[in-house]
Amino acid sequence: MSALLSIRGLGKRYGATVALGGVDLECARGACIAVVGESGSGKTTLGRILIGAETADVGTMVFDGQPVPRHRPLALRRRIQVVQQNPMSALNPRRSVADSIALPLDVHDLRRGAARRARVLELLEMVGLPGEFADRMPAALSGGQRQRVALARALAAEPDFLVLDEPTSALDVSVQARILQLLAGLQRDLGLTYLFITHDLAVVRNIATSVVVLYRGKCVEAAPTAALFTQPAHHYTAMLLSSLPVISAEEEALKPAWHWDRETGLRDAVALGCAFQPRCPAATPTCTASDIPWRDIAPAHGTACVSPLT
Ligand SMILES: Nc1ncnc2c1ncn2[C@@H]1O[C@H](COP(=O)(O)OP(=O)(O)OP(=O)(O)O)[C@@H](O)[C@H]1O
Ligand code: SF4
Ligand SMILES: [Mg+2]
Repeated sequence: MSALLSIRGLGKRYGATVALGGVDLECARGACIAVVGESGSGKTTLGRILIGAETADVGTMVFDGQPVPRHRPLALRRRIQVVQQNPMSALNPRRSVADSIALPLDVHDLRRGAARRARVLELLEMVGLPGEFADRMPAALSGGQRQRVALARALAAEPDFLVLDEPTSALDVSVQARILQLLAGLQRDLGLTYLFITHDLAVVRNIATSVVVLYRGKCVEAAPTAALFTQPAHHYTAMLLSSLPVISAEEEALKPAWHWDRETGLRDAVALGCAFQPRCPAATPTCTASDIPWRDIAPAHGTACVSPLT
């Protein structure tokens, strides 16, 4: 698989806050890359830069072999779409479902007249909603139904790449599972590439091909999904895994133990080195003496840790 999207050294500050501190990322065509990390780790900032809603201060981005310019042409914007977290604010309350879904068809001049209406109905079917939803208003829809409409609108642009920013975290667990199934099916059928942002590793376990772990704006580990779950390298990844519910004795045996206070050091910023140092049981003075180099520990598996678990 060749990379559809690759970014190098992406950085973004908001005043004194470093939202992203030099992130590299490679998204193979057809892959689902999960981006995980706790609140404030820079996940949404990364997603917003990828869709062009925000510009990076530093770094480069290459999409389908072409450098992405600061001002993106419409044709490029069409190819990278987003589904956001909050289904309540995602849709304009004064637009019918059909009008919302047809917006990208008009903007990118993809369908007109009768073909436009037919495409709206086709998109509704793709996201598992009956055609009669076309003339409803968002207020008449549940959270899960709104998220399906938001997804249909994103698909209307015929994108190659979808940024999914916590697309299920505002939904009930049973609805969540059905939306995840829908996303997995659409990815397969349409050959889409996903960047799936979540704070919950359990959500992406079955859908992600690989996982990137962000901590305070930096990538601390990247691995194929199975390797991340069975052989986490960074101590922060181990902490995230230790809090996941398990469904079998086998999983319980693999799960890292975490005996330390998760909140310790949360507010202590370190100027240099590993930002996780105040919370890390394995921390030594080397961890804050200099910036931590990236090290590869297996094919496609790397971490920024001086004393990795594997
Ligand atoms: N527009 C903005 N203005 C100022 N600070 C911002 C802005 N957007 C993000 N930040 C800051 O940048 C950091 C990263 O925020 P971001 O929203 O990317 O995190 P996140 O990982 O998506 O968090 P969450 O899980 O809560 O959605 C945070 O410290 C946040 O307060
Ligand atoms: S670099 Fe040091 S502080 Fe950071 S996770 Fe590794 S051992 Fe812990
Ligand atoms: Mg966010």
